[in-house]
Amino acid sequence: MTRPPVHVPVLLDEVMTYLAVRPGGTYIDGTTGLGGHSEAIAGAMGPEGRLLCLDRDADALAIARERLRPFGDRITLVHADFSELPDIAAAAGFTGVDGILLDLGVSSLQLDEAERGFAFGLEGPLDMRMDRRQALTAAEIVNTWAEPEIADVLRTYGEVRQARRIAAAVVRARPVRTTWDLARAIEQAAGGVRGYQKTHPATQVFLALRVRVNGELDRLHAVLPRARSLLAPGTPRRGRLVVISFHSLEDRAVKEFFRRESSDCLCPPRTPLCVCGHHATLSLLTKKGVRPSGDEVASNPRSRSATLRAAERVA
Ligand SMILES: C[S@@+](CC[C@H](N)C(=O)[O-])C[C@H]1O[C@@H](n2cnc3c(N)ncnc32)[C@H](O)[C@@H]1O
Repeated sequence: MTRPPVHVPVLLDEVMTYLAVRPGGTYIDGTTGLGGHSEAIAGAMGPEGRLLCLDRDADALAIARERLRPFGDRITLVHADFSELPDIAAAAGFTGVDGILLDLGVSSLQLDEAERGFAFGLEGPLDMRMDRRQALTAAEIVNTWAEPEIADVLRTYGEVRQARRIAAAVVRARPVRTTWDLARAIEQAAGGVRGYQKTHPATQVFLALRVRVNGELDRLHAVLPRARSLLAPGTPRRGRLVVISFHSLEDRAVKEFFRRESSDCLCPPRTPLCVCGHHATLSLLTKKGVRPSGDEVASNPRSRSATLRAAERVA
């Protein structure tokens, strides 16, 4: 018998604290994955609550559907990108919601299945698509894109220091069919794995390709203002947005959005009188990013790079 993969939800207690789920409330989980956070939200919202669950990955959603079956029609699952949220939420009758969760990045299902091609620890085809309906794969980038374009992807999305050198090695190694072909090419370009005791040189390259294949940063930039507009606007209830990110580019985007939206003025420093007309729409619930405890990292190493930020809508 095959057992469904286990995904331990990251920062679960913190998510529940910041979402402050109330009985009878309405919630959206934009990144349902295997349904760990959704299950906790559904349990807390009680029989009158409603939860809309989205994921780009049909396989993940099928597992979440089984897990969430006990909650019946209080849960609506949709195979979709979270950047389409306003339309999907409207169609499902979700407006003025009490809370939205975005737990970004990849799930254990994606990382642990060799055929998905996300992990260089497992040999598999260079796929990396969260949504397998999409055309672009990592194989297409490494085998058909020009060297400078590949270098640009590595620099922009993985902050890879030897981007040009690694891109050149990847192009020389064509055809690059599997995750291991790619990892070998990277190791050679980076001078082997010695000296990289903490992080394998392929880590940032795989991250960059994954982020580019799935358009992760563009989608994150698109969803943040849309999610904010879906929240209950302050009176009588303040809807809450909770975001967990896993790398610095994601966290920077979330932090910058929260900073802007919680500011009453965006005029340049030392402008004597405010002329921008901006006003705060969010109030920060976390002044600094919340990180997992040592115990959580020890029991779930995948949580180690997680940062949670939360805010509530005030206007
Ligand atoms: C870290 S996992 C979520 C795990 C989940 N919170 C749980 O408890 O099982 C991230 C999930 O978000 C999904 N995802 C990432 N970007 C997405 C997007 N733009 N739209 C919808 N789902 C997305 C991935 O397919 C993946 O299943």
